[in-house]
Amino acid sequence: MDRRRFIQNAASGAGAAALAARSSFSKEGTIAMNSSNPSPMMMATWNFGVAALEAGHEALKQGKTALDAVERAAIVTENDPENTSVGYGGYPNARGVVQLDAAIIDGKTGRMGSVGAIENIKNPISVARKVLEHSPHVMIVGEGAKSFALSQGFHEENLLTPKALDWYAEQLKKDQGDKGHDTIGVLARDGAGDMAVACTTSGLAMKWPGRVGDSPLIGAGLYMDGEVGGATGTGVGERAIETCAAFAIVEMMRNGKTPQEACEALIRRVARRNSGKLAFQFAFMAMNVDGEYGAASYQSGFEYALLKDGKITLNTGKTFGKDFD
Ligand code: GLY
Repeated sequence: MDRRRFIQNAASGAGAAALAARSSFSKEGTIAMNSSNPSPMMMATWNFGVAALEAGHEALKQGKTALDAVERAAIVTENDPENTSVGYGGYPNARGVVQLDAAIIDGKTGRMGSVGAIENIKNPISVARKVLEHSPHVMIVGEGAKSFALSQGFHEENLLTPKALDWYAEQLKKDQGDKGHDTIGVLARDGAGDMAVACTTSGLAMKWPGRVGDSPLIGAGLYMDGEVGGATGTGVGERAIETCAAFAIVEMMRNGKTPQEACEALIRRVARRNSGKLAFQFAFMAMNVDGEYGAASYQSGFEYALLKDGKITLNTGKTFGKDFD
């Protein structure tokens, strides 16, 4: 469908059937395994990244692409009602509404899809993939993101769990709420050596309605260049937006830094910009096309899951001021 017809259909409300029909042309690719293929690798932020990588690893073992693997991994976290910072069960904004942000990048094709401040759709990462595959756009936000999702066959759901609602009621009684959050970012390199990245979050809890963080912003919360590698992060998104953090890391890798060196350089830059004072955690991880990887955080305690040589392990990122200055 060309761009003009897409927009006409969207405007007339007649886009759903055409878009659904078009999506039937899309088939997930599979990769023929042979001994010269690189070993698949994945990284995911935080300890809940372990369960996410189990799903991603399963996809890679079936010969699925890096793009499939990062989406499947992200869905596991989005579906977890106990995870209060991603997807279903995520803490709401200041009006008590769960607004989700997500983005995905295919390093093989260079295509990208993103949704911001989307409501009542459980798997924004899959909507972002639909944006990548079935729209002429890169990013769709708010009501438009929801109507696009519905046109693609998603359905509306209440994402505010009783646990998140109780938490929200408690916050309203306090002057200063607990605004912590832990985005999931996922990087993958598949058996063909192609890479992808995904990032999904409910964003800062008690955020201003309509606030969009770094996670759906290409170059801020995630970036991938299939010739170089990718990066994604977690923590207070405003700091990542201010520094185009993921793009900066990938460009540093392009210019010769290892993923670890690039992550540390970015954390140093953020620390300098904030005179060494950051109230919240801020962390990034990166992987290049050769399978080198690294992770660094501003505050201690940042963990990431790693799939390497067929095993998933939980690792600690290097901390600014402790492991590097
Ligand atoms: N890093 C997620 C956010 O700030 O929304």
